[in-house]
Amino acid sequence: MYVCICHAVTEKDIQKAVGNGVSSIAKLSEVTMLGTHCGCCTQHAHQVLNQCTNKPV
Ligand code: FES
Repeated sequence: MYVCICHAVTEKDIQKAVGNGVSSIAKLSEVTMLGTHCGCCTQHAHQVLNQCTNKPV
């Protein structure tokens, strides 16, 4: 499922990024461009990132 429509970033892409050491939204944005256009996706991206890194939401 797409998390960031503007840059076609999926939950799988986020999981993959976490597997490659990404642990923050800032780093995720840097790697995938997520959240750098309309910004609508950042809240959902936080949830997915927290799930992937096992942090409480
Ligand atoms: S949906 Fe992610 S920047 Fe627009």
